[in-house]
Amino acid sequence: RGKRAFIAGVADDNGYGWAIAKALAAAGAEILVGTWVPALNIFETSLRRGKFDESRKLPDGSLMEITKVYPLDAVFDSPEDVPDDVKANKRYAGSSNWTVKEVAETVKNDFGTIDILVHSLANGPEVKNSLLETSRKGYLAAVSASSYSFISLLQHFLPIMNPGGATISLTYIASERTIPGYGGGMSSAKAALESDTRVLAYEAGRKGKIRVNTISAGPLGSRAAKAIGFIEKMIEYSYVNAPLQKELLADEVGNTAAFLASPLASAITGSTIYVDNGLNTMGLAL
Ligand code: NAI
Repeated sequence: RGKRAFIAGVADDNGYGWAIAKALAAAGAEILVGTWVPALNIFETSLRRGKFDESRKLPDGSLMEITKVYPLDAVFDSPEDVPDDVKANKRYAGSSNWTVKEVAETVKNDFGTIDILVHSLANGPEVKNSLLETSRKGYLAAVSASSYSFISLLQHFLPIMNPGGATISLTYIASERTIPGYGGGMSSAKAALESDTRVLAYEAGRKGKIRVNTISAGPLGSRAAKAIGFIEKMIEYSYVNAPLQKELLADEVGNTAAFLASPLASAITGSTIYVDNGLNTMGLAL
């Protein structure tokens, strides 16, 4: 039986989520994606109109099939948590069952079980503010969307994950070393995500024989990264200073995710795996 993957955080063909979906599809997995509610319409329209066909191409020449796109807002666990202004928002009112609990229920009703859960989403409304200038609200929003969202997804999907399954999230080195400009509590959110990876690996390992790892990825000019404002500089910095002086491809992160999700990685859990051309190992570059 082929494996089934649910990838949360795919809304275009530029980000790590898309590349992970492709690598998993190339390895024979069935692909389900969770797309942020406000981005759902344009994503589905673009998919339908063939706008992504070129980037859907897999190494064997076939096109990646996405079996189903689920609307998702990972800052809400269940309908009781949704405030009235969000409920009334046109983009939200047009979709249903997009809280984490409801998405897990819908996937269960549709397919029964999954094998692979990927968290490739983050949001920090005050990312452009230094930490010193971050409000409580902005900080908590960053942690809610970028860290707790993984706990919530695992909490709700674990019961429908087949033993031996794997989960993967995406993190960034700003969790452990100061990256000026990665503000709004996003550095804190990634530190939480990496710590939670260790604790959840223990808990999900014991509870469901599920592995939990996170990929610390180098810079990629995704939509989310462009919103931060200095991604081109980060890419250039990495190119100049990393041990491997080459462009970092989203597919390289996708391939690592496919490895981590596969039986080849059956003894790896609780780990932060660097996929960054080695940049994290440098002290001073000359
Ligand atoms: P992306 O824009 O492709 O992915 C972020 C996704 O999160 C988007 O699809 C967005 O719609 C979704 N999202 C935001 N809030 C959401 C919510 N409340 N519920 C559901 N979905 C929501 O950008 P990228 O960069 O590929 O991001 C994926 C992951 O990779 C993130 O965790 C990011 O922090 C991480 N990462 C990115 C790096 C980069 O340089 N691009 C470097 C290291 C890690």
